[in-house]
Amino acid sequence: AIKACLFDLDGVLVDTAKYHYLAWKRLANELGFEFTEHDNEKLKGVSRMASLDILLSIGGLELDETTKNELATRKNEWYFQSIMAMDQSEILPGALEFIQECKDNGLKIALGSASKNAMTILNNTGLTPYFDVIIDGNRTTSAKPDPEVFTLGSTELGIPKEQCVVFEDAEAGIEAARRAGMACVGIGSPETLRAADFVIPSLQDMSVNRLPELNASNL
Ligand code: BG6
Ligand code: MG
Repeated sequence: AIKACLFDLDGVLVDTAKYHYLAWKRLANELGFEFTEHDNEKLKGVSRMASLDILLSIGGLELDETTKNELATRKNEWYFQSIMAMDQSEILPGALEFIQECKDNGLKIALGSASKNAMTILNNTGLTPYFDVIIDGNRTTSAKPDPEVFTLGSTELGIPKEQCVVFEDAEAGIEAARRAGMACVGIGSPETLRAADFVIPSLQDMSVNRLPELNASNL
């Protein structure tokens, strides 16, 4: 049976995509090109430097490493200002309720996020105390779709991969869960998240009663 839930952060527990978008758009505009919400979809779940590479390719720019590091730092300073103003009202509907239900049922809880800002977001939204283990972008060397973030989470929880389920809103994250040998619930639209065991619009639609469906599909 499932004994642990591993959660992605951005887009699963909190809606930070809008803040990432505004900061990347501001950077693109400063560099002299447009960056749309449609473009922003390509950055979901992708690490900061990989996101910058995608953004620069949209603008048709090729820059050296020093300049790229400087631009990524500038973007992060803007993004950081937004997340410093976050509070618990920005936890996505159903997220806290489902985490609490998991805990009431004796399940372990871990974070598996690519973000280097995860601790700031968890602290400002009051989510930190709910987690048994927190793996973020400062603790991994390979970004999703590499399975490292989830494999490390399972190891630190002391729960084997067969008893772990990942909750993810990004294709790269679902691939990471699959490569880690774990069950996976997609949060979002079934068209883009085909590789998940099942897809729900939000954690409002999740309950521990649905966890046995994952065991069945994993056997
Ligand atoms: C992921 C987000 O969780 O974290 C991406 O979905 C983001 O959009 C990535 O680029 C890295 O985040 P940060 O906070 O380290 O720049
Ligand atoms: Mg995400």
